[in-house]
Amino acid sequence: MTQQIIVFGNQKGGTGKSTLAMHLAVSLLHKGYKVATIDVDAKQGTFTRYIENRIKTSQDDPKILIPTHRPVFESSSDSMRVMQRENFLRFSELINSLRDFDFIIIDTPGNETDLSKIAHSFADIIITPMNESFIDLDLIIKASPIKAGVNTGSYAEIVWEQKKEKAKRDKGTIDWIILLNRMSSVESRNKKELEKILELLSKRLGFRFIRGFKERIIFKELFLSGLTLLDGNTSRTALNLSHIAARQELKNLLKELNVA
Ligand SMILES: Nc1ncnc2c1ncn2[C@@H]1O[C@H](COP(=O)(O)OP(=O)(O)O)[C@@H](O)[C@H]1O
Ligand SMILES: [Mg+2]
Repeated sequence: MTQQIIVFGNQKGGTGKSTLAMHLAVSLLHKGYKVATIDVDAKQGTFTRYIENRIKTSQDDPKILIPTHRPVFESSSDSMRVMQRENFLRFSELINSLRDFDFIIIDTPGNETDLSKIAHSFADIIITPMNESFIDLDLIIKASPIKAGVNTGSYAEIVWEQKKEKAKRDKGTIDWIILLNRMSSVESRNKKELEKILELLSKRLGFRFIRGFKERIIFKELFLSGLTLLDGNTSRTALNLSHIAARQELKNLLKELNVA
């Protein structure tokens, strides 16, 4: 199969990038694929720590599958030019070294960094988790506040720029998905309005939007053990109806990604 590079990105923290990156990586491992993971948010290191916790837990349970993980750090050069060149080299060499993997799952930070933009330009698929709120939507489509006198542009603009960057480099395309995460269980007018607006915007901004995961406490509990919803049978996490529903949500995501 041709390799798929999947990037989780959103300029806002706390939307579920690291959690969902981990869940997607483990789902793919369970399906028998060769999976590598990259933490572009290595400074914060949530994804890396999640995997370290998993490695610890797996010492008692060899059935727990571990992806090949690589954190990557931003160049610290003072010169913008040198920094950008170093970042690009560092990242493209890393991707090149992982060419034997079926999937590369990449987690990025909740703020705009040079390395994160480069990672986006290597994506076949970008998944942007957002909470069910107009504030989150606003942050994706509207320009962010002026930083040091420069308007940094919105996340949608970053995706647009990186789509162009990829097309220029190798005529590649990027499938951009906005995924609702931590959805409430109740149907509200706010929710309907939001979905209607997302539907309208999707054509204009070139993304597709999917209903991802409901708000489920279990996600918060899993981090320390490094486990995912898929490890339920092999671990100390007791399965309940909410977990089963969440596994179904994960299956739906794989279907949206055309993973058999
Ligand atoms: N569907 C969900 N239901 C409940 N909690 C969630 C869900 N998805 C993520 N979380 C929790 O939200 C918090 C932020 O998630 P995280 O993956 O670290 O976000 P990000 O990487 O975007 O900053 C974590 O405590 C995580 O456990
Ligand atoms: Mg994170």
